[in-house]
Amino acid sequence: MRIILDCDPGVDDTYALIYLAAAAHAGTHELECVTTTSGNVDADQCARNAAWILTLCGLPIIPLAAGIPEPLEWDLTTTPETHGDTGLGYAHAPERHVEHDWDRLWIDAIDRGTEDLHLIVTGPMTNLAAFRRLHPEHYAKLRHITVMGGAFHYPGNTTPTAEWNFWVDPHAAKEVFADAPTPITVCPLNVTEKMLLTPERLYRIIESLGAAPIAEHLDPITCFYFEFHEEMGQGYQAQIHDLFTVLTVTRAIQTAPQLATIDIEADSDLTRGTSLIDTSHFWDRTPNAHVITDIPDTTIDHAWQLFDDACHILSRIASGDAALEKLRHLRAED
Ligand code: BDR
Ligand code: CA
Repeated sequence: MRIILDCDPGVDDTYALIYLAAAAHAGTHELECVTTTSGNVDADQCARNAAWILTLCGLPIIPLAAGIPEPLEWDLTTTPETHGDTGLGYAHAPERHVEHDWDRLWIDAIDRGTEDLHLIVTGPMTNLAAFRRLHPEHYAKLRHITVMGGAFHYPGNTTPTAEWNFWVDPHAAKEVFADAPTPITVCPLNVTEKMLLTPERLYRIIESLGAAPIAEHLDPITCFYFEFHEEMGQGYQAQIHDLFTVLTVTRAIQTAPQLATIDIEADSDLTRGTSLIDTSHFWDRTPNAHVITDIPDTTIDHAWQLFDDACHILSRIASGDAALEKLRHLRAED
């Protein structure tokens, strides 16, 4: 499987990057490129963050570029109170040059074939909506898309009814779902909130990361996010939405999605970003989504175990494990 990750790191996006970096090292999945969208912080800062995280995970050469700087219609709102001033909690990525050829990276990946290509969006859907407008022929070729967003018959985390990614750029989400090239897999708050990281789990993860350079930064990155959840009355722990989303794509989390039609309210001040689901054909529209609305707790425990395994891989890479290097090269040659 080849993956494009379009993200806005962001603390939980960081966990998605760590997992995909380990999968790339192990040769089980190929990370084609990483692009960023404005959401938790602006797209350029997200790109600096993503580049730093990948470097700390031993993958400094993944093609990476910042995408569209503003939502399609609303002014950009970022969320320093949730993810910190620069998006990585108490940690700060170094300054660096940021590329902006994000759509060229997507086109190149699509031109290499779309049967095994998965686009994962863990931020607002601005880039995907812009790609549809800019490159309709390439957009139409996308076969596998998974997004983190929405809340269906479930409370929002930004307004009483809206989830953050859909709220930041509701026009983008609306536009993409109105003309989806394939039913889009949707991981809403209903399930991603179950991907709970506790301090105990974090310390086990840091131990598993061993000598991997990301290990020493994960605590300052995550503690800020723990504190935010505590202030919100959710306890000293954190919801790692975007890791959940990536794990469903790699099939580490087995799900039973529901084929449905979804739509997003874009313009209302009151219900901006609210996601609606029609499973009873009220709208008489072609289904545009596979929505995951339920997941057993045992599956979540298993998913954390797999994340832990991924961290072991990064530890082995950092310690120069020759057997793992050889395995990676053999898989790459397949
Ligand atoms: C989503 O909002 C962002 O703050 C997180 O990174 C996640 O993608 C959850 O609503
Ligand atoms: Ca995100």
